[in-house]
Amino acid sequence: MATSEQLKTILKSYMERDDARFYSVAMQIAAHEARAGHGQLARELRELIDTIKTKESRDHLKKTIPIAQPQGELSNLLTVSYPKEKLSDMVLGPDIRGRLDRIIKEQRQMEKIRSFGLSPRRKFLLVGPPGTGKTLTASALAGELHLPLFLIRLEGVITKYMGETAAKLRQVFDALKRHRGIYLFDEFDSIGAMRMATNDVGEIRRILNSFFQFIDEDESQSLILAATNHPEILDYALFRRFDDVVQFTLPDPMQRKDLLKNRLTAFNKTRLNWDQLAAASDNLSHAEITRACEDAVKDVIIHDRDKITEDIVLGMINERRQIVEGEMERSSNQQNGRR
Ligand SMILES: Nc1ncnc2c1ncn2[C@@H]1O[C@H](COP(=O)(O)OP(=O)(O)OP(=O)(O)O)[C@@H](O)[C@H]1O
Ligand SMILES: [Mg+2]
Repeated sequence: MATSEQLKTILKSYMERDDARFYSVAMQIAAHEARAGHGQLARELRELIDTIKTKESRDHLKKTIPIAQPQGELSNLLTVSYPKEKLSDMVLGPDIRGRLDRIIKEQRQMEKIRSFGLSPRRKFLLVGPPGTGKTLTASALAGELHLPLFLIRLEGVITKYMGETAAKLRQVFDALKRHRGIYLFDEFDSIGAMRMATNDVGEIRRILNSFFQFIDEDESQSLILAATNHPEILDYALFRRFDDVVQFTLPDPMQRKDLLKNRLTAFNKTRLNWDQLAAASDNLSHAEITRACEDAVKDVIIHDRDKITEDIVLGMINERRQIVEGEMERSSNQQNGRR
């Protein structure tokens, strides 16, 4: 028999739509029955779990149909996807993981929070260097909460004309009310690029102000995420509009080790000197390390080698480092040139 704790957990996980926990407890109950010598019951439970999983993924596909790709003018402003990523696929420090877990828990227990007259947090600014998982986080939140991810195409929203930009922003915020989802204003700092388009600093200010107004007035049930790797160009007034500012950082040695292990042992189970590889990838982002691992795996495949070695991975890490350093030098030369 399932324990009373397992029964409570399985009902709670159903209520909170926490599929991972639901399946894990269901499997625990099946394993418990198998150990107790109830082989027939254990088999039936496992079959039921498999059937639920298949049905769940079919239903998920069905649910996505009503909010297909935005139509008409909205299609220039938004694209929609249905990510399957999970937070557990990401390598994150404990602070960020805690913050993201809290967002998910508050969303899953939204009704309970509302019954106390409170609202779950919904507006977040994701800040941090390139390739540290800001965009991936938006996908993982959508995957965890089974919500569609709407990506706002800022280049479609921002035009030379203030009136037009405000009207387009309004359309985005109207969509946000109609369809609950995760709305990502990615590369949010590109609003700053308007400076080039209009040569008018006042214009950017007005666009930001109209964004502030929309975000302040928004009482939808959607989550609003804005991601940037240039927080310094964003106004202080913007920061206080968000319920939380999640600060992403380059991976520390522990996280680099986890990332390397995740990416390389998925290909083959060879044990490598993880500490050496983690030390060599110092100062590289999650994205760069992921690329180096993928390049190493591809190298093994195309040369028909039997396994990955430290030397192959180190070679790819160095290649990435050279590309990143070259890029940094180019952009600092450009900035100096502009001064
Ligand atoms: N924290 C992470 N854990 C695991 N993989 C990661 C993580 N961050 C990034 N990656 C890998 O790097 C890729 C690019 O990351 P992502 O696009 O989320 O970075 P970003 O922070 O949005 O960068 P940018 O500022 O350039 O937009 C991801 O698709 C994933 O493969
Ligand atoms: Mg990004």
